[in-house]
Amino acid sequence: MSQTCSKPAYLRLGVNIDHVATIRNARGGLHPDPVHAAQLAVEAGADGITAHLREDRRHISDDDIAKLKAELTRPLNLEMAATEEMLGIALKHRPHACCLVPERRQELTTEGGLDVVAGHNLLTDYIAPIREAGIRVSLFIDPEPSQIEASAAVGADVVELHTGRYCEAAIHDERETVDVELRRLAEAATLSAAAGLEVHAGHGLTFDTVGPVAAMPEIVELNIGHFLIGEAIFGGLHSSVRRMRALMDTARAEISGSVSA
Ligand code: PXP
Repeated sequence: MSQTCSKPAYLRLGVNIDHVATIRNARGGLHPDPVHAAQLAVEAGADGITAHLREDRRHISDDDIAKLKAELTRPLNLEMAATEEMLGIALKHRPHACCLVPERRQELTTEGGLDVVAGHNLLTDYIAPIREAGIRVSLFIDPEPSQIEASAAVGADVVELHTGRYCEAAIHDERETVDVELRRLAEAATLSAAAGLEVHAGHGLTFDTVGPVAAMPEIVELNIGHFLIGEAIFGGLHSSVRRMRALMDTARAEISGSVSA
């Protein structure tokens, strides 16, 4: 879709509820319940819910995934590593989408994108049964042309572009790097859409950094977690999701205004 000839698509907000589970697990009990948080996020305007079932189960649990699948009224995006165990879980619960991410036990969060170029053959075989089960497959990648080409070649439906470097540079006010990273993301979004991939983005986004990414017309979904859950401590989850939704809508309206219908 070209920025100059048609209205950009609606931008969906996927709310990642992992860190509600992080707080719950700090005491090993049931509170706060990530499924309840997911329901509140939906009421506040989330279009979908994302949860990362990690190999070490440090936040989201198997029961959370079962409950989310049973009770959610919006699509569930299951983030997971490309392991045999996770394949079985995905095929059992059949979420709307699976987002494949790299995972190492020591990392604090998902640190870089999936190396689809290196994992080409393995990923082709891994993705096939998930797609055959009617689940959309998304690959979380760095905004690199080689990773985009490989993602299309292995049969992914979606790429989620890693916004972490952009957000880190913005936090540290490194203006030149911010510009470089935004350019990489914009070029990657265009290239991905041209390759027939649906384009999502996420990681590290905040009220201050969401605007320029939301203004990239090929991007149709943002997945945002840590900041929204952290911000909920101060003003509540409803308020943090509403404000993020409004900022996304404003950025989208601005580019809609600048395109000729
Ligand atoms: N997208 C993917 C693939 C992720 O792994 C994460 C972090 O779990 C996010 C989006 C959300 O990142 P954040 O919690 O920093 O908003």
